[in-house]
Amino acid sequence: PSTSTAAKPVTVTLTGAGGQIGYALLFRIASGQLLGPDVPIRLRMLEIPSGAAAAAGTALELQDCAFPLLHSVDVTTDLAEAFDGTNVALLVGSRPRGPGMERGDLLQANGTIFGPQGAAINEGAADDVRVVVVGNPANTNALIAAAHAPDVPSDRFTALTRLDHNRALGLLAAHLELPVGQLSGVTIWGNHSATQYPDVFHAQANGTPITDLVDEAWLQNEFIPRVAKRGAEIIAVRGGSSVASAANATIDHMRQWVGGTGSGRDGSDRDGVDWTSAAVVSDGSYGVPAGLVSSFPVRSVNGCWEIVQGLAIEEFSRVRIDASVAELIEERDAVRALGLIRD
Ligand code: NAD
Ligand code: LMR
Repeated sequence: PSTSTAAKPVTVTLTGAGGQIGYALLFRIASGQLLGPDVPIRLRMLEIPSGAAAAAGTALELQDCAFPLLHSVDVTTDLAEAFDGTNVALLVGSRPRGPGMERGDLLQANGTIFGPQGAAINEGAADDVRVVVVGNPANTNALIAAAHAPDVPSDRFTALTRLDHNRALGLLAAHLELPVGQLSGVTIWGNHSATQYPDVFHAQANGTPITDLVDEAWLQNEFIPRVAKRGAEIIAVRGGSSVASAANATIDHMRQWVGGTGSGRDGSDRDGVDWTSAAVVSDGSYGVPAGLVSSFPVRSVNGCWEIVQGLAIEEFSRVRIDASVAELIEERDAVRALGLIRD
């Protein structure tokens, strides 16, 4: 038996590991940026056969980095192997919408991915498993995965809206010509889609309400649509969808879920916010129907995301939150009609 007092390795499973976001994520995970500089990592890279060679090549590069924290790397196309003992699951692999595909086609195609992955997590993952879905449509994919994992508490399934949150902070900081670290209280509500609502009505810059610093026309006509459509803007300008910023947000989301918001590993709150945003299974807070995976203002407390309660929601915000939630209800009803989840 080992007499080592070193921390126990944590098993991290990444799906879509041969893809672009996978490539931007893996080296950060293996170098300790996800779980901290003292936590050894067992990496499981899940791919489909067409992506397995790219994942295998990346595994060779990981070896060539000689990361001290990286205990093992496995590339697999087998779900049971991929999720056996998983503590942290990053579900990135997903099929993007192709030419001529309707929303229902995409929901169906991805339901066939996230249902079996949820079932494999239910079957084999560790008791403390935490799941973040990045692959689109992220919120509804998380709903499908959770529905296939009846033995896993539903609060362990989340979807990424941290990229939207970071985009809102970045755009606000640029407009106000302030460092991001001076901003707090920004929220993304609803779906990771163009209907999302980036809310600054509780936000501050160095204690001054943001609403005293920007006018409503700018909020309504520039800020809100630009954050909500930033994914499309990146595709148009860059010629491909966001990759490094998506990987960065995935790291932020999981690092703070495990380590806490406002208690970064360096003892500081890296992005200076007193809460962040994540899509979590609704408990009915703020009138969002229970069970939907919707973005909320959240804090990570003792390893759990908690929805920040008690924020006043003005009519301006209410209609926008409701519109995004209506889209989530439509998506849920569509995957129900496809037989991907039960009532
Ligand atoms: P990519 O096409 O480069 O990579 C996706 C990889 O997933 C491919 O290698 C593919 O083989 C793999 N894959 C497909 N089905 C799989 C399955 N069933 N199991 C395991 N692997 C599978 O795409 P990308 O740029 O890495 O983006 C991945 C996803 O993330 C897309 O759906 C994209 O729309 C989404 N995305 C989400 C956000 C967000 O903020 N939530 C941001 C950016 C991108
Ligand atoms: C993003 O927000 O960048 C991604 O979800 C990609 C997209 O299609 O917008």
